Amino acid sequence: MTQDEMKKEAGWAALKYVEKGSIVGVGTGSTVNHFIDALGSIKEEIKGAVSSSIASTEKLEALGIKVFECNEVAKLDVYVDGADEINPTRDMIKGGGAALTREKIVAAISEKFICIVDGTKAVDVLGKFPLPVEVIPMARSYVARELVKLGGDPVYREGVITDNGNVILDVHGLAITDPKALENTINGLAGVVTVGLFAHRGADVIITGTPNGAVIEE
Ligand code: 5RP
Repeated sequence: MTQDEMKKEAGWAALKYVEKGSIVGVGTGSTVNHFIDALGSIKEEIKGAVSSSIASTEKLEALGIKVFECNEVAKLDVYVDGADEINPTRDMIKGGGAALTREKIVAAISEKFICIVDGTKAVDVLGKFPLPVEVIPMARSYVARELVKLGGDPVYREGVITDNGNVILDVHGLAITDPKALENTINGLAGVVTVGLFAHRGADVIITGTPNGAVIEE
């Protein structure tokens, strides 16, 4: 089975957490794209979605799913999203698709974070995947210097502007043994919009696509 087929297993298995008549929080990425296809198959049964990116909004709307503004919705029951890495305590690195800020906002208004991944995303220690940091453009060099002081090797993601008009630094070379502390530290730097560490708001449920189907850990 290919990696994409395993992503599909995970994406479709997440339908189990979607309540009839609900508004669903929808993440971003290739795994979520399978979840959006799955949502399309039950679109008459849901009220709509809150989306974490322009890309996901376009895909949802193309399938005829109503997309609500985040400000119109006080609370969501579930948020379904992928991850770049997830550790045994369910902290995640996210933002490989540059959607980390909106993902964090939609996750923050959601009761349950359903993380959909293939088996390659599970790690013991976060950090092999470069940690994305969304930065206000004028702060790029300053934040990069501060990230070096923290032991990282930040690389400017050339040619990428986020949905919020900002830039991304991908921080290589970190072994993240205290994800909550690092999340606080990086979020505290002037000019940082969001760090792609999801430790304070980690996953509640993990659905891993495997060659034998989806494995759900609650
Ligand atoms: C986008 C994300 C994605 O969830 C993450 O990059 C995983 O993507 P994929 O499902 O394509 O492997 O955080 O900003």
